Amino acid sequence: MDRLAHEGIPEVCALYKRVWDQFPELPGDRAREWTPGPLEFTSWMEGVTYFVARSDGHTVGAIGCETRAGSCRIVRLAVDPDHRRQGIATALTQQALEWARHARCGSIWADPLSRFTAAAALFQRLGFSECGVFHRHFHNEDLKLFEKLL
Ligand SMILES: CC(C)(COP(=O)(O)OP(=O)(O)OC[C@H]1O[C@@H](n2cnc3c(N)ncnc32)[C@H](O)[C@@H]1OP(=O)(O)O)[C@@H](O)C(=O)NCCC(=O)NCCS
Repeated sequence: MDRLAHEGIPEVCALYKRVWDQFPELPGDRAREWTPGPLEFTSWMEGVTYFVARSDGHTVGAIGCETRAGSCRIVRLAVDPDHRRQGIATALTQQALEWARHARCGSIWADPLSRFTAAAALFQRLGFSECGVFHRHFHNEDLKLFEKLL
């Protein structure tokens, strides 16, 4: 796992495009909104630390850690469709846990769309508790809340 440096931004943008192209049925124009260009991604980096996973020199996974008021929110976790179920998201999330502990956070949390059942299974497997639902919260879709105390 590497901390994302500026030169890695185009590859991360390409990764997000591969991931969200898989979800053409997302409400509104979410897929496009979550597929930034390099310039837009630079603004996503404000206050968020990103880590990336690589395989054969290519970026195959990414995670953002947004630390605020003593808690770390996981954002924009995604793994290349061709590299799933190989433990990449697990390793990225463990990196986020390490980062949160390093930042002396009391907890780490995530709020995937309810429809993202793989993400729910991942967080449960990693010892997060499902602690709530935001109903019709994101463009009329439910979000599930997961947290882990550190
Ligand atoms: C969710 C996601 C990041 C998981 O990435 P991954 O690298 O395949 O996950 P891992 O290989 O680390 O999986 C670890 C465990 O999570 C669970 N899991 C992961 N994907 C799963 C799936 N499709 N179905 C059921 N369980 C799943 C399993 O328990 C898995 O362990 P196992 O493979 O030994 O059974 C990936 O599917 C993805 O990018 N999805 C689209 C974007 C998304 O949902 N992002 C999350 C937003 S917060």
